[in-house]
Amino acid sequence: MFSKQIVKKLNRVRTPYYYYDLAILRETLEIIRRESGKYGFVIHYAIKANANPRILEIISSSGFGADCVSGNEIIRAVETGFDPEMIAYAGVGKTDKEILTALDKNIFSINVESLPELEVVDSLAQTKNSSARVALRINPNVEAFTHKYITTGIEETKFGINLWDLESIVGNLDRFRNTEITGLHFHIGSQIRRMTAFKALCSRINEIQLWFESRNIYPEHINVGGGLGIDYENPDELADFEEFFSIFNELLDLRKGQKVHFELGRSVVGQVGSLITRVLYVKNGAETRFIIVDAGMTDLIRPALYQAYHQIDNLTSEGKRQKYNVVGPICESADSFGKFIDLPETCRGDLIAIRSAGAYGEVMISNYNLKDPPGSVFSDEI
Ligand code: LLP
Repeated sequence: MFSKQIVKKLNRVRTPYYYYDLAILRETLEIIRRESGKYGFVIHYAIKANANPRILEIISSSGFGADCVSGNEIIRAVETGFDPEMIAYAGVGKTDKEILTALDKNIFSINVESLPELEVVDSLAQTKNSSARVALRINPNVEAFTHKYITTGIEETKFGINLWDLESIVGNLDRFRNTEITGLHFHIGSQIRRMTAFKALCSRINEIQLWFESRNIYPEHINVGGGLGIDYENPDELADFEEFFSIFNELLDLRKGQKVHFELGRSVVGQVGSLITRVLYVKNGAETRFIIVDAGMTDLIRPALYQAYHQIDNLTSEGKRQKYNVVGPICESADSFGKFIDLPETCRGDLIAIRSAGAYGEVMISNYNLKDPPGSVFSDEI
């Protein structure tokens, strides 16, 4: 990703900024298209992972659909070229305004997460004299073996309809004249690296489908969500899409004509971006030396929020290696990108890359401490 020539160019840009390698994005999209295409799977890109319009335009023009979590994401998706017929909308707390946006755009599916929400969707659709295409988001109670903040498919989380509530929802479906149940939706979590979690999801979906069948409900589509993790220890490696899609092909029992949808975010854009930051100061601490950089948790919150590991590279030094704590300027001790990191001797002015930051990086920035937002730079612009 970082040849000497590129580093020279990056060095001229004001830091901090996100650097996106579009060749990697295109390669990733091509692999996803090839591997999912083998089975006729439909891919929605989860916009929450990175909503930069330039990135979205490339993804939409590759023919992918979108997965949105807010009305504004739906609007951004449409603006950047996603076909409304390919937009799924899930979110545990949709406002009336957001539901109306979804109805106005006539999107592929509104994924409802409770009976009260279904009532609101149905009555809003009635006021518009339209019919809402709805998927039921079910909490399958499957462990994702990931960080607890990004686990979404076990009983104690707020997401989806719990299995014991299905009976009451299905028993009420007749009341809803302005909704059509077109699918079942699942999403068990994010940064999932153990494929057994997806295998368990498949068998749970099979059981749930049988349950619906016994009540004469035959959904047109099954949306299995996203969650495929990336290898933060190896930023140049892409996720194993081949294995991922083949698991669903092998283990899901599908009914005739039924389509399988995915909502991939991190695995599409994670390895495409790095946060580029400059060393302001190096100073001695009690145990190691601190490298203080000009990016902070306001630019990339993942290490502070999830204790996430991101590989850190010094792009401009080849000196003797030693251990450093790499920290930002924000007034919080959690504002740290890594402790005891092995780096070549580092000085003021060096350029640092915090890798695998293409997903849940730029979208999660804040202006705490009134810090300026980071820039974004694309590989074809420098
Ligand atoms: N579908 C639904 C319903 C979701 O809630 C999510 C992510 C996705 C799809 C996409 O999942 P992915 O393929 O990206 O794993 N900020 C956290 C991640 C939050 C994920 C939220 N939901 C992080 O930085 O790790």
